[in-house]
Amino acid sequence: MNAVITAIGGFVPSSILTNKKISETVDTSDEWIVKRTGIKERRIADDNTATSDLAAAAVENLLENYKVDREEIEALLVATATPDHILAPTASIVCEKSGLVNAFGIDMNAACSGFLYALEMGANMIESGRYSKLIIVGADKMSSIVDYEDRNTCILFGDGAGAVLLEKTESGNGLMKTILKTDGSGVSSLAVPAGGSRTPISMQSLLHRTHYLKQDGAFVFKKAVSSMSQVSQDALAKNELQADEIDWVIPHQANLRIINAVGESLNIDAEKVKVNIERYGNTTSATVPLCLWDFKNDFKEGQNLLITTFGAGFSWGATCLKWGVMRDEKTAKISKNTTEKSVVMAH
Ligand code: COA
Repeated sequence: MNAVITAIGGFVPSSILTNKKISETVDTSDEWIVKRTGIKERRIADDNTATSDLAAAAVENLLENYKVDREEIEALLVATATPDHILAPTASIVCEKSGLVNAFGIDMNAACSGFLYALEMGANMIESGRYSKLIIVGADKMSSIVDYEDRNTCILFGDGAGAVLLEKTESGNGLMKTILKTDGSGVSSLAVPAGGSRTPISMQSLLHRTHYLKQDGAFVFKKAVSSMSQVSQDALAKNELQADEIDWVIPHQANLRIINAVGESLNIDAEKVKVNIERYGNTTSATVPLCLWDFKNDFKEGQNLLITTFGAGFSWGATCLKWGVMRDEKTAKISKNTTEKSVVMAH
């Protein structure tokens, strides 16, 4: 028995933060950001919107579009690095907002690899035979931990959420073997230093702005390229697949140069590598499900997808999956224009 994705939902806030707008507050330019990262704009949630709101909107989009009975959902795994609160779980709030009355909810934090980690946990829950319908969400309000006075980081991140329905199948489609990796020495290179039990928020942390995300960008860049390239090759080998048997690559969207370097190292044509970073930036846990949502109409039954991620921790991994049959969508055709989609959801 395999776990297969049968429905996808997504949500991005309607407010757009352009490179030009950022260059009005920090010393940077549209040209520099596009050349060094591939990002043109990102979506930013308003002050009244928390991660659970983004997640619940993505779940609602999934449930509504595919006519999924919310009472049949047995568990909700929410991958996020920006929970609504340190305590209580964001997943509890999403269960409540989304009417998932029979589901248990749990948060999972593996930063930019959170969705892939949660997908692997969900697949194992289904393969065990104990569960048959789960929703896996990747959601982050990165604007809540980004320092908009720091040009090294504020250009990179955006807000958004994506959700997938995982169901059991005996068709042979679905998730294959996954490799997940962790290297705790990476914490010093990419973290939000204050706000947890190590360094609770204080006047000092506010003064030094350590409640915001800090990173050694160049080091993280190199680690991301080498780790995603190696783990992707290892996942292909583990699943006895050659690179030319992969139809689509869904990489974590952190930097277009990272994505291109990983694609080249695998010797996979650039047109097979899905990219939407130019519109959303790095939405952390949400990049992979937002990519699946954006490009779902391109995936055909039986095609092989490779997903690979890298994030804080360090946490990284890769999986292969054979695309299955999706549930019927209520709306036969969804506009490719994400602005239209988000406006519909926002209202
Ligand atoms: N605008 C203009 N110049 C900038 C800038 C900006 N927004 N940010 C940094 N610079 C400058 C630096 O100050 C540095 O100047 P200097 O040479 O005078 O010291 C120069 O550009 C080069 O800095 P560097 O850090 O080497 O640039 P880079 O090409 O590595 O790009 C990142 C910086 C952050 C875009 C890139 O390192 C990156 O994407 N890293 C990975 C980030 C990531 O993926 N994080 C999340 C993990 S999932």
